[in-house]
Amino acid sequence: MIIQKELVDALFAQFGESDITRLSIREVGKLVAQIEKESGQEFIHMEMGVPGLPASPVAIAAEKEALDNGLAAQYPNIEGIPFAKTEIARFANLFINLEVSPLNCVPTVGGMQGSFAALLAAARTNPDKPYTLFIDPGFPVQKSQLHLMGLPFKSFDILNFRGDKLHDKLESFLKEGNVCSICYSSPNNPSWFCFSESELKTIGELATKYDVIVIEDLAYFAMDFRQHYGTPAVAPFQPTVAHYTDNYILLLSASKIFSYAGQRIGMMITSEKLRTRRYPNLKNYFTSDVLGHFIPYGVLYATTAGTSHSAQYALAATLKVVNDGEIDFVKVLHAYGEKARLMKALFLKYGFYIVYNDEDRELADGFYFTIAYPNLTSGELMKEFLYYGISAISLAITGSENLNGLRACVSFVRLDQMEVLEERLKAFAEAQQ
Ligand SMILES: Cc1ncc(COP(=O)(O)O)c(C=O)c1O
Repeated sequence: MIIQKELVDALFAQFGESDITRLSIREVGKLVAQIEKESGQEFIHMEMGVPGLPASPVAIAAEKEALDNGLAAQYPNIEGIPFAKTEIARFANLFINLEVSPLNCVPTVGGMQGSFAALLAAARTNPDKPYTLFIDPGFPVQKSQLHLMGLPFKSFDILNFRGDKLHDKLESFLKEGNVCSICYSSPNNPSWFCFSESELKTIGELATKYDVIVIEDLAYFAMDFRQHYGTPAVAPFQPTVAHYTDNYILLLSASKIFSYAGQRIGMMITSEKLRTRRYPNLKNYFTSDVLGHFIPYGVLYATTAGTSHSAQYALAATLKVVNDGEIDFVKVLHAYGEKARLMKALFLKYGFYIVYNDEDRELADGFYFTIAYPNLTSGELMKEFLYYGISAISLAITGSENLNGLRACVSFVRLDQMEVLEERLKAFAEAQQ
């Protein structure tokens, strides 16, 4: 151990929660900061999913210019400024190979607001279909959003339902006829698995068959580095359910791909079919029953009244250079993959195993991976790690049914910390003997 057990235990006790796996990501961050302060030991921080790279300089320059031009004084258009809408549509065309127009593209206050609006709108489309179905493990805040709105959800853990097994599992939920939307992220937070084309096809076909909206969270767009998705208009394109169904809402975020988390901007791309579709039940909540009107003028207006004007310029300017092929936005992100490769190798060397792998290929190296240690529950491992100056979050809060796993995020770990990580994992493993 490198940190006194008594110190860690006393600080943890202050949280008034005996089960460490129940702490939220932000609470773990707070606990670890306190341990660092009291012990003087720097942690290997694997708990927070924050970008570890500098923000896009193009975005910063555009944002400054927008402010200098007086835009801070003006409300932005709720549906997005034309520059942003046009560049989002071009981006979808060039990097997803998706035919959408600016009308289908709306900036949101991060992917977070995108999911809030999409989950809420979907749940109001039909009173007989109130349930969102999460394909877990997943990003815990989306479930919090539903809890806060008083909306119900169902979920299942994908671990034992990859590939051909996905069809029947998914259909068993949809057959009940009360599901309005299916929500998942791919690449997946927390496990970094990616749905294969055949799995996306299954999801898309079943969504069409059962008239369900797929809310596909692409917060980690193009970050499956096994392929290069960063060249405009050149295959391969970002895999998506949108290639297999018209019932889609895609959520993208500038937080990770452009390291722009602080300015809170994302993108919502709604299929033309859904954008123009009337759902009579929406009239119980708003003046219009058209989904593509309900989302911006009903939900976005009532929550933030649009997305920050200058951030929209930042996003639009960045997308423009990316769309014009002047910058390969994916290349700089490879730094995450490199760190994941090194870190996974260290964990495997000291007896850990990866909990979630990919279906038919080696798991990609990216932003997150999941680890477990034989015969330790996730709570035991998470706590034990604190004594060794390592922090991670439990899979228990992600809807995982696996009792042993932790999520490791690579973004905050520096390359110069790899040696320290190895020393600590070695000491940890020796203590387990
Ligand atoms: C899967 C997923 N969706 C959405 C978000 C939130 O993104 P944003 O910062 O754009 O709100 C995150 C952030 O970690 C995420 O992991």
